[in-house]
Amino acid sequence: MVLQAILYEPASTSSPPSLRILDQLLLPHRTTYEQVSTCEEAHAAIKQMKVRGAPAIAIVAALALAVEIGAMVVAKKLSDAAEVVKERLNQRLEYLKTSRPTAVNLGDAVGKLKIVAKTAALQPEATSDSVAQAYIAAAERMLIDDVSDNKAIGEHGARWIEQNTTVGRRRKQDKGQELKVLTHCNTGSLATAGYGTALGVIRSLRAADMLSRAYCTETRPYNQGSRLTAYELVHDHIPATLITDSMACALLAKEGDCLAAIVVGADRVAANGDTANKIGTHSLAVLARHHGVKFLVAAPRTTIDLGTASGQDITIEERAPEEVTRIKGPKINPDGRILVDEDAEVISTAADGIDVWNPAFDVTPADLIDGVITEVGVVVKVEGRFEFGSLFQKS
Ligand code: MRU
Repeated sequence: MVLQAILYEPASTSSPPSLRILDQLLLPHRTTYEQVSTCEEAHAAIKQMKVRGAPAIAIVAALALAVEIGAMVVAKKLSDAAEVVKERLNQRLEYLKTSRPTAVNLGDAVGKLKIVAKTAALQPEATSDSVAQAYIAAAERMLIDDVSDNKAIGEHGARWIEQNTTVGRRRKQDKGQELKVLTHCNTGSLATAGYGTALGVIRSLRAADMLSRAYCTETRPYNQGSRLTAYELVHDHIPATLITDSMACALLAKEGDCLAAIVVGADRVAANGDTANKIGTHSLAVLARHHGVKFLVAAPRTTIDLGTASGQDITIEERAPEEVTRIKGPKINPDGRILVDEDAEVISTAADGIDVWNPAFDVTPADLIDGVITEVGVVVKVEGRFEFGSLFQKS
């Protein structure tokens, strides 16, 4: 079974489109899908991180509005003029954009969808229905494109590692040689429309028989690594080992010779290559440089923000202190059985009254990044600088 965090059904002759999301707060112990019918529901699901990951956030927001407007089409409630529908779409998109600030994919999707609505409303025969249908078709296209983009990212990344790392070249010659990769946070099917970015590279390396083992960090404080990436790796039968974030240096010291790369995702890549990603990414990049291991960012072009000059201009989301001071999960019986059907317990892990700083992301300077893997190829620095402009001339 293919893992899917986003289940979308287009409209049929009798029913409106529908959207369900996998509630990632309940993973890895419970697989529960939740209906999303309105922008308010999508906004809440994104803010609470029932759905998370830069591309997934953008797609769920886009599709939630498709569902909302699609229901109005079927119920024949869209009696207003084309221009009024365009305005409504713009307002709803702006509202959705306020759900989380750091990932650029949502802002990118909002910008593109506004252009779709504007263009549709400008057509000579435009009606409220035609504007709504143009919006719905564009949102649905985003879901489809994200999966094919991720597969391309996976292939480009796997080939780059094979050709540009000592470990990759060795493994290519002799499949008995070890090739391991470390990743951080969750960048897989749960964070995207499917397959994943950094986890897509791991999947592609595995499919090409180039990977002997993946390591994933726990990714404190939200544990996207231990809860979600570990779940995906186990699901796909990829040999994998979980480490806590603080073990990364020891791992690199021990496994440096067979660790081909650290591959991470991104929430926003600035024009100069500085990259905002899950907190802890910057430390891994420093470690990679110290140990002579390649550090790669895997991200679709929708994550590259040419409008943001450098990392200094990226807003970093700060989240609730309780994410650091408490942990939530199911109880475990004395015999080791996980009580998945009972309500999860919340456990306190810190001294009451302590102040907490909880930035959800950090910015890795471009200097520490060896390559940015996109769906149209891997960008490396030329004369010490990344240049992404030409990526957007390719289809
Ligand atoms: O806070 P999250 O879980 O939304 O953070 C997700 C990450 O930082 C991912 O690494 C990033 O969005 C890339 S997802 C393909």
